[in-house]
Amino acid sequence: MTASDGDGGASAVDLSLMEPVFQKYSGQPGALIPILQKAQDIYNYLPAEVLQLIAERLGIALSKVYGVATFYAQFYLERRGKHVLKICDGTACHVKGTPALITAVEEEFNVRPGETTLDGELTLEVVYCIGSCALAPATVLDGRVMGRMRPTQLLQHLRRHVSKTSVQET
Ligand code: FES
Repeated sequence: MTASDGDGGASAVDLSLMEPVFQKYSGQPGALIPILQKAQDIYNYLPAEVLQLIAERLGIALSKVYGVATFYAQFYLERRGKHVLKICDGTACHVKGTPALITAVEEEFNVRPGETTLDGELTLEVVYCIGSCALAPATVLDGRVMGRMRPTQLLQHLRRHVSKTSVQET
């Protein structure tokens, strides 16, 4: 069983992938969080159709499922890219140039903070202090901290690691 993800039909969500998860946690009333974790492992985020299915299968209100999924920072309700770039906009990083970094990535990849490029390659996230203020402005690409970034340097890193299909033609 598949359902459009409502994102222009660019991809579909295969709900049958959840069956083994429901089987594993069958009869465990408090299993909502582990089920959400497994779902995110499968889809890389929590699609609306999957949250709906979880609510139905567990017999709980959809609002409760959303409540839990939005409460914990580990859960993502938006599609995430193959690569995730976090740019710190905490005070130390902001004054050292974060706004220019964000603008550079927005323009090069046609993506806004909190969004993923249409080809699913890159997710851009803005975060607030990652504890590396001495390296301001700090960024994290796929879990690797990159400090004292300048826009040109950051774009060079991204061009090396992120597929060119998500780079805007100019
Ligand atoms: S403000 Fe950016 S790492 Fe602390």
